[in-house]
Amino acid sequence: MGGTETVSSAKRILAMLQCRADGDDERFYTIALQVAAAEARQGHRRVAEGIREAVDKARTHSGRGQTVAVPFAAPRGDLADLIELRSPSHRLADVVLSDKPRKQIEGLVREQERRDWLREHGKTPSRRVLLVGPPGSGKTMTAEALAGVLKLPLFVIRLEGLITRYLGETAAKLRLVFDESAKRRGVYLFDEFDAVGGHRGATNDVAEMRRVLNSFLQFMEEPNATDSVVAGATNYPDLLDRALLRRFDLVLRFSMPTDEQVRTIIKSYLRPMRYPRLAWKGIIEAGAGLSQSELARATEKAVKTAILDERNTIRTRDVVGALEERREMREAFIGAKGSR
Ligand SMILES: Nc1ncnc2c1ncn2[C@@H]1O[C@H](COP(=O)(O)OP(=O)(O)OP(=O)(O)O)[C@@H](O)[C@H]1O
Ligand SMILES: [Mg+2]
Repeated sequence: MGGTETVSSAKRILAMLQCRADGDDERFYTIALQVAAAEARQGHRRVAEGIREAVDKARTHSGRGQTVAVPFAAPRGDLADLIELRSPSHRLADVVLSDKPRKQIEGLVREQERRDWLREHGKTPSRRVLLVGPPGSGKTMTAEALAGVLKLPLFVIRLEGLITRYLGETAAKLRLVFDESAKRRGVYLFDEFDAVGGHRGATNDVAEMRRVLNSFLQFMEEPNATDSVVAGATNYPDLLDRALLRRFDLVLRFSMPTDEQVRTIIKSYLRPMRYPRLAWKGIIEAGAGLSQSELARATEKAVKTAILDERNTIRTRDVVGALEERREMREAFIGAKGSR
């Protein structure tokens, strides 16, 4: 950003007072961090660190880093048809993940939370993330949780639907979404991302798909003043255009759950039931091959049954039965998308 040195402290104080009057906390902290950076450049490291710590603390106090239930204004006008506002209802801690994607997300959160600090040092925070993995492995849930930790609204754009609905003018509609992301900070989740790139036939209009791809390529390169997070989710990374793939800052890979994850997911969805002695070996066997989402739904089913039976304890056969039922459902819908 540059040029901040020349801003006098009186001007900064004025701007901070203005933020106070407007209730714009984020901007208030941003300016405070600019002051810290200016101090740091003059060699006043202790002062700079002090300011930065005070800002971090103030942010935590205002509920930052906690979660959810933040009311956000839904998109209006033309945008209302393109973007769906979701309120985050999952915490990052609830998403059962392998170490690698978890670390990657934590890294992203850290860069986003300290983005002003990075920018003051001439660095751009990561914000473009591709979520790759089978149906029901937690891609949408992760985007939601990410929005939750960052205290940002989650906007979901379903590309396949958008392309079929706005045949011929998809690129123009996308432009509206892109512009919004530069104006309003949020997590923008482009679902069914493989629809971009033209390998798959949402439409036979090759020229249209070319335009869509090109507008995405351009959008991904544009600097984004609001540091909105752009997430793409896909089950089919192979269908993605290579040039598009290269524009992401990070790729998170989701996969079918490991035995340990099967256990963790089932345990977490068993709450608030008691489960004193479950035969985990049999349960894990019954859960093998099911997605995270299917495991979650099956476990919920077992819990509901117990509640209706007015029991507060879950037995192995409740869980195994529900898992087997899920497996039968999956087999009945083989090949069907979104086998949740
Ligand atoms: N990794 C996970 N940990 C815990 N629960 C999960 C996980 N993945 C999925 N779930 C459960 O399944 C539900 C559906 O998952 P989600 O919508 O995130 O899957 P997805 O990967 O986006 O699937 P799709 O490709 O079909 O869009 C979640 O809301 C959650 O209840
Ligand atoms: Mg999804």
